[in-house]
Amino acid sequence: MIAIPSMRPILILALLAGAAVSTPPARAQSAAAEGQKIAFDRGKGNCLTCHDIRGGDLPGTIGPQLKDIKSKYPDRNDLVAIVTDETKRNPQTVMPPFGRNRILSEQEINAVVDFLQTL
Ligand code: HEC
Repeated sequence: MIAIPSMRPILILALLAGAAVSTPPARAQSAAAEGQKIAFDRGKGNCLTCHDIRGGDLPGTIGPQLKDIKSKYPDRNDLVAIVTDETKRNPQTVMPPFGRNRILSEQEINAVVDFLQTL
């Protein structure tokens, strides 16, 4: 009788962990759509503050227009690197290091890169 209530928090944690693991993967097709949402979200990627991106409202011009990205960067690792920490390529850049500063998670960056490759 005593052991059952004391195990309850562990059970709940196990259930929560199970739920967290079972939600993310599976949806590769919608990743680009998800990435667009993150890129356009002013509280997330906020890429439109600096980049003109097809489909986005009120873009800024601090950064270059993002277009033909797939032909410019055929290797997606280059795009992951740019979004994760552009200061590695250009120490003077004003582009925030989304990965290094944890503005976006690795999964969010991957979705954004999927979206960039559709441009
Ligand atoms: C504060 C302004 C700013 C924000 C916000 C910003 N960028 Fe940038 N970005 C730049 C600038 C400036 C450059 C030009 C390269 C440099 O500075 O090194 C750039 C370059 C890039 C490049 C390379 C483009 C090319 O043609 O070579 C990509 C891709 C890119 N940004 C994606 C993004 C994405 C995706 C986001 C949102 C998650 C984002 N940027 C948010 C300023 C910004």
